[in-house]
Amino acid sequence: MLSRRRPARWPRRRAGVAEAVAYVAVARAGEIPVGAVKLVRAGERLYALANVAGCYYALDNNCPHNGGPLAKGALVGQELVCPWHGWRWSVSSGRNTWPGSGWRVPRLPVRLVGDEIQLPLV
Ligand code: FES
Repeated sequence: MLSRRRPARWPRRRAGVAEAVAYVAVARAGEIPVGAVKLVRAGERLYALANVAGCYYALDNNCPHNGGPLAKGALVGQELVCPWHGWRWSVSSGRNTWPGSGWRVPRLPVRLVGDEIQLPLV
């Protein structure tokens, strides 16, 4: 019978110790006004970077419904509205806001270093 337990020699993750992840600068803080969305590139991927009341959120630019460009969508409160069919996505969770919908758009953590907005390379 196969055991599902972790072998004793696997390294354990220590709480509070972040793995080394490379971040890349994608914009400056002053470039994106409050309530605006900008298309940015991190590595090979494109993201919609939104400024909601001074907090930045990054969602994959491709709408999961049919590939619409989310960076061209409108920001309504904390929701990003896809320009093609109007589906709404929470910028903080990436979830579709229609009740009961399980759809989700990938999102990335955003890091602010000085006035540089950075995204991890994934
Ligand atoms: S492609 Fe975004 S809602 Fe249809």
